[in-house]
Amino acid sequence: MFRAVYKLKQEAGVESFMNYVTFNEQSMVFTLRTEHTMYQMQVRQFGILCHLYYGPFLGEDELDYRIIELDRGFSPNPYEADRDRTISLDILPQEYSGYGNGDYRVCAAEVDFQDGSAALDLRYQGYEVLKGKYKLPGMPAMFGDDTQAETLEIRLADEYSGANAVLMFGIFPKLDLITRAVRFENLGDRSYRLRKVMSAQLDFLDGPFELIHFHGRHTMERMPERLPLMHGMARFGSRRGTSSHQHNPFAILCRPDTTEERGLCYGLSLVYSGNFLFEAEVDQMNQVRVMMGIHPAHFWQEVQCGDVFYTPEIIMGCSEDGLTGLSHLFHDGMRQNLMRGKYVFSPRPVLINNWEATYFTFDEEKIFSIAEKALDLGVDLFVLDDGWFGKRDSDFSGLGDWTVNEEKIRGGLKNLSERIRSLGLKLGLWIEPEMVSEDSNLYREHPDWCLRVPGRLPVRGRYQLNLDITRQEVRDHVMEQIISLIEECHISYIKWDMNRSLGNVYSSVLIPQKQGEVFHRYVLALYEMQESLITRFPDLLFENCSGGGGRFDAGMLYYSPQIWCSDNTDAVDRLRIQYGTSFGYPITSMGAHVSAVPNHQTGRSVSIRTRSVVASCGTYGFELDPEKMTKEEMQEARKGLEEYKATENLRLCGDFYRLSNPFMNQDFCLWQFVSKEKKETLVEGVILRHQANSPVFYVYLRGLKADARYQRTDTGRVYSGAALMKAGLPLPLELGEYQPVRMIFREIP
Ligand code: DGJ
Repeated sequence: MFRAVYKLKQEAGVESFMNYVTFNEQSMVFTLRTEHTMYQMQVRQFGILCHLYYGPFLGEDELDYRIIELDRGFSPNPYEADRDRTISLDILPQEYSGYGNGDYRVCAAEVDFQDGSAALDLRYQGYEVLKGKYKLPGMPAMFGDDTQAETLEIRLADEYSGANAVLMFGIFPKLDLITRAVRFENLGDRSYRLRKVMSAQLDFLDGPFELIHFHGRHTMERMPERLPLMHGMARFGSRRGTSSHQHNPFAILCRPDTTEERGLCYGLSLVYSGNFLFEAEVDQMNQVRVMMGIHPAHFWQEVQCGDVFYTPEIIMGCSEDGLTGLSHLFHDGMRQNLMRGKYVFSPRPVLINNWEATYFTFDEEKIFSIAEKALDLGVDLFVLDDGWFGKRDSDFSGLGDWTVNEEKIRGGLKNLSERIRSLGLKLGLWIEPEMVSEDSNLYREHPDWCLRVPGRLPVRGRYQLNLDITRQEVRDHVMEQIISLIEECHISYIKWDMNRSLGNVYSSVLIPQKQGEVFHRYVLALYEMQESLITRFPDLLFENCSGGGGRFDAGMLYYSPQIWCSDNTDAVDRLRIQYGTSFGYPITSMGAHVSAVPNHQTGRSVSIRTRSVVASCGTYGFELDPEKMTKEEMQEARKGLEEYKATENLRLCGDFYRLSNPFMNQDFCLWQFVSKEKKETLVEGVILRHQANSPVFYVYLRGLKADARYQRTDTGRVYSGAALMKAGLPLPLELGEYQPVRMIFREIP
């Protein structure tokens, strides 16, 4: 029995859209095109939506010939196949797999019904092509108008239950990106529970693939690790309520021969800031199934009749130009169609933050004198970090009381703000709105406002508890205090911190059947708070943070153009952290500060010039006490900032190249920015190994015009682009550990 296939509300004149989505009614093949990539699916027998291809653009070919249907032992057949044993969901590459239907591989969605059954058999119903990019209510997602993006929605349904899964594809032809999300609708007459609901699945007919993922820990985030996918499963994710320091929701799949410069690779970036899971399975036929989405651990979602549930979005990119080409897709896509606000492409105020200068021990005079002295560094903004509010003399107390601590800031914050602003500086403020200390007025008044499992003692993290921000009254209370502070004290910048993983995940206002929704509701509540903040204060420079880089994800970048990259400010460690982060995220999204030496996290000392060069590979700032700096250090620091400023546009708008891998190359760590027109380039980095009678090391530039002539600005020497790229450039051999490198080249006629 073949199901009727119908088009859903397909508008007349689909041809007049950008036509990056086509559907061949004879072969039932959907083709999604971007400038250099192509994605193909086919509705096959019994309405099974199969994945045919995702990869480099191939032209008009339809790739259904790639699927070979054979009788495979122990791979069952749909009932409709009758005596045909060649069709099996266990073997067919699918767009979005269900469960309990003969497919024994890892599945995209699992559904439980009230009768105790658990099955989902999704078959094709129809499609719709829409102008512009779809939106996800209450969730971050790439945006795009009719000239930038097109949407394809494909409706799948489980006939028995009425559970509908609408697969949403956002096609960004110029960016070479495709986004995906799924909308679950309950159009049946029985409620169900989603136990697993991934955002996207990619079934490849053949491997081999290698996986690059980004693991880490507090102060050492996003360390790349590359491993071959083997038969069976590879999985990583977070169950901490945040995307986490430990694993980042960005992954790369590549061929074993893919390098920085060349080779096929795919990137998957989950636009979500909570629990997530990445899974890759190599099956019995060497096929590879990959998926990512909300982590099913501690998750379920009740879907009553008529309810709709949206998954978060995944951004997918494919490049044949190696890992650099892939990074460029994500850098450009995020900068152009994910990150918002006036600062994405424009110079950011350079800040000085007092955290490592004072920790909790300061008063208003100390703060003012840091700000005053920082004027000599050339900064634009002073950020008052943790410790200015409530009874916040240490991390034991105060969170939740967002009123100034008048014992420390005598005269109040408004007064201090006036004094700092009278210096010509803007004022920024640290907050941690999602938390409460037990020793706080908020907790004493509302002990029930935190997440807490009934009858059990809470798990503390940094002595603090998580507020139950899924509750409207909790959100309102916190946001009211923060909004009035911003208004009264003329705050220009906010650092939104989050210093523990979620624990005790139970909301006292939800019925037991909905407790599986708390993790996700928490993330939605966070998004609502941040959206209201940036909507109310569009000129605010907003920086997210979670103990450094514990929530460094594409979801957060929808709200803030920069994220504090790591609590580790050591320049040498930062080389590796920023290198790892650069694979999936724009360089200017990484908050990077020049801090004092010996470094507080590692005890290492490197020159201020080296610290400055490393901070330049991010959004520049200071985090030290300028009163403790020598005159020479102040001069060097100011010079470093001026050099950063002189090339800021290149960093904000240009292309980024990793010239060496600090995990493999013990001698140097270098990177390069190239302007989009390839008229200017900047090479920066650090010589890692100091040795006597050193051999000469050569760096090979990238991304230039081979036949153009480039003049090096400090020496005046002229080189062809070809020479810089193919013959390389000797690196300076100065004595001393961790010498910085900075070279600028400009095209000359
Ligand atoms: C963690 C942040 O990453 C630091 O920069 C600092 O703001 C502290 N929290 C303050 O508690």
